[in-house]
Amino acid sequence: MKYVIGVDLGTSAVKVLLLSQEGQVCGEVSASYPLIQEKHGYSEQSPEAWVEKTTQAMGELVRQFAGNVADIEGISFSGQMHGLVLLDRQKRVLRNAILWNDTRTSRQCQQIYERVGRERLLEIAKNPALEGFTPPKLLWVKEHEPELFRQAAWFLLPKDYLRYRMTGTIETEYSDAAGTLLLDVAEKTWSTTVCELLDLDPGLCPPLVESHQCVGTITPAFAERTGLSPATKVFAGGADNACGAIGSGILSDGKTLCSIGTSGVILSYEASKARDFQGRVHYFNHAKENAYYTMGVTLSAGHSLSWFKQVFAEQEDFDTLLSGVDQVPIGSNGLLYTPYLVGERTPHADAVIRGSFIGLDAAHRKIDFVRAVIEGITFSLCESVEIFRKSGKTIDTIISIGGGAKNRTWLQMQADIFNARIVKLASEQGPGVGAAMLAAYGCGWFSSLEECAERFIQPVATHQPIKENVERYHNLYSVYKRVYHQTREINGALSAFRG
Ligand code: XUL
Repeated sequence: MKYVIGVDLGTSAVKVLLLSQEGQVCGEVSASYPLIQEKHGYSEQSPEAWVEKTTQAMGELVRQFAGNVADIEGISFSGQMHGLVLLDRQKRVLRNAILWNDTRTSRQCQQIYERVGRERLLEIAKNPALEGFTPPKLLWVKEHEPELFRQAAWFLLPKDYLRYRMTGTIETEYSDAAGTLLLDVAEKTWSTTVCELLDLDPGLCPPLVESHQCVGTITPAFAERTGLSPATKVFAGGADNACGAIGSGILSDGKTLCSIGTSGVILSYEASKARDFQGRVHYFNHAKENAYYTMGVTLSAGHSLSWFKQVFAEQEDFDTLLSGVDQVPIGSNGLLYTPYLVGERTPHADAVIRGSFIGLDAAHRKIDFVRAVIEGITFSLCESVEIFRKSGKTIDTIISIGGGAKNRTWLQMQADIFNARIVKLASEQGPGVGAAMLAAYGCGWFSSLEECAERFIQPVATHQPIKENVERYHNLYSVYKRVYHQTREINGALSAFRG
């Protein structure tokens, strides 16, 4: 039996999965690393911590593996998107990575519109300038750390840096490159036009490859540290949402995904590179060759729940925190939550807005808050579902992965709020499974990702929307949607008091 490893380089942790040729998950190790938040709106991580924790996790995975290590044939990656890793000419890291949920760059986004123009940016990069994307971060470093920026020879996305440390080769692939705003998404080339207008040297951009392309083997040093064979092949991998889509079988038109990790996304497959969503949702290259996907993003989805746990229930695990949530009625006894802990992307691209609990009552208990948090996250995602429906897409079935798929009550809530059939898979680890599938396809085990999906992906449960719940949620959803508009100005005034 042969095996592949999928590495999911997330925001809170790295997860490494070992999958057999039969698609069975045979091993799973995870290791966490901290966020560095020096100021409000800042979100950074140490690339060295990613490398160190992945090396440890992979070593542990190999130690737990009872078979022949030489049968682990390939590795591929899923990575948190948009993060900026800057390297000098000797390929040394110049500063901490600035992550996708960092919102310090509103001014640089404005500059991008002034220099490129919103229309032209949407034409080339298919996406608006948002704080989390890569070029505003490049412009921020150029302006605030000019000495350091002068030394920059390359930028990489997070998983591309990790892969570089495992192989010694530098490249990125289309699904992550699409999240930099510097890629001509339809043409699949770096846009010299955008680079020139932003006065960024196109030489900073790494070479582009396909996600399933083999970029080499692991270095002898990495093999020695992990116990893997030095012949282990390495495949480029993809952006976490693209890999989540692959790992959930979102490989043809009409398929929709709900993925709740630190962020939450509603993602829809797109065969065409020519549709126009006017920047209301992200439009990226898929990690499947010559395919695309569109997606709405809730910045603090799982993050809302982990924030709540950390602040109000630090000693509890998630199962304890959520136990009893099914006993709280729809609407959390009149408590509403909006998940704007670090601002928002879809449908309100707004770095200043912050979250709210509205309707506090002396009778509320902690469990009402917990239910309000997961209802608020799901309402936020529903705003993306609504955009897709309004664009003419039929969304009657949604595959659910990530933290939101671990809890039965939350799965049913998704069915009732989205008014769609929700499918749960055998593994909620979509991005890691998708990464492993890219390695399996790259190794030549299957003639297509679709054939691999048939072997690797198993639906295990379905939740149907319940009519009276759908109606009740529908009423509450219209109240939820008013909160953004009614708290916007207040949050603008409060921003002066943020540290
Ligand atoms: C997508 C995005 C997030 C990160 C999370 O545009 O910023 O979903 O990919 O890792």
